[in-house]
Amino acid sequence: MGSRNGMQNKRVVVLGGSSGIGFAVAELAASQGAKAVIASSNPERVQKAIESIGGEAQGQAVDVSQERDVATFFAKLGVFDHLVFTAGDSLHLRDLVATDLGQARRAFELRYWAALAAVKYGSPHIRTGGSIVLTTGVAGRRPRKGWVVASSVCGTIEALTRALAVELAPIRVNAVSPGVVRTNLWQSMSAAEREHLYESLGSSLPVGRVGEPHDIAQAYLFLMQEGFSTGQTVVVDGGTVLV
Ligand SMILES: NC(=O)c1ccc[n+]([C@@H]2O[C@H](COP(=O)([O-])OP(=O)(O)OC[C@H]3O[C@@H](n4cnc5c(N)ncnc54)[C@H](OP(=O)(O)O)[C@@H]3O)[C@@H](O)[C@H]2O)c1
Repeated sequence: MGSRNGMQNKRVVVLGGSSGIGFAVAELAASQGAKAVIASSNPERVQKAIESIGGEAQGQAVDVSQERDVATFFAKLGVFDHLVFTAGDSLHLRDLVATDLGQARRAFELRYWAALAAVKYGSPHIRTGGSIVLTTGVAGRRPRKGWVVASSVCGTIEALTRALAVELAPIRVNAVSPGVVRTNLWQSMSAAEREHLYESLGSSLPVGRVGEPHDIAQAYLFLMQEGFSTGQTVVVDGGTVLV
């Protein structure tokens, strides 16, 4: 029992851990005694994140959209306890008739195919009692106009999570589904547009605000530690699905 619970000395690998939700997960895990290993595509951001977390945090630049780089990363990494996948890029939101289908296909590259590669090459190195936590988004359950492709990607990750939980048992596989969170993901908008989105959406939610990365990080820590959930998607959305 003791070996399955708690983050002390657990090795937690966060792909997409240099900013936003992934960084918050790595930081929170490290604050609870875990050894965080972060990876993302930009070496400077990885270095900055490691320095900010401090302690025994490690990191490496890896473009997770490149299958060979993902395979090499895990082949060299050695064993670990928990795999967290938070890598993501900005979404292109368009009405369907204005959607370029080539671009729509590319929306699956990082969120679906790269996540699948991470699990394929990472799962053989997970210690007994370990887990995988993927990332989706509440748009899969609460689509809005213009979100056809983005919502499809999110729904796909929920299905992938259930399938992997069966495929990889006894490794537990779960996902976290955030609502809108203040992160770099929204950086393609101007600062004014972004603040307007946060303010207008936040005030419409039951909790009265959009999320912060540390709100969401706690769900990942819960899923890594509690030991009895698998195939589940935990929604942390401020009540988005209700309105
Ligand atoms: N923020 C929201 O409102 C929200 C809502 C629902 C779901 N989500 C999901 O949550 C996840 C995390 O997003 P976030 O909001 O925390 O955004 P973020 O701050 O932009 O973080 C994305 C992370 O992914 C990394 N990344 C991007 N491309 C990569 C690549 N090719 N290889 C490796 N790493 C890569 C980024 O680092 P580099 O740039 O250094 O590569 C960064 O560390 C995403 O899947 C996103 O779709 C976010």
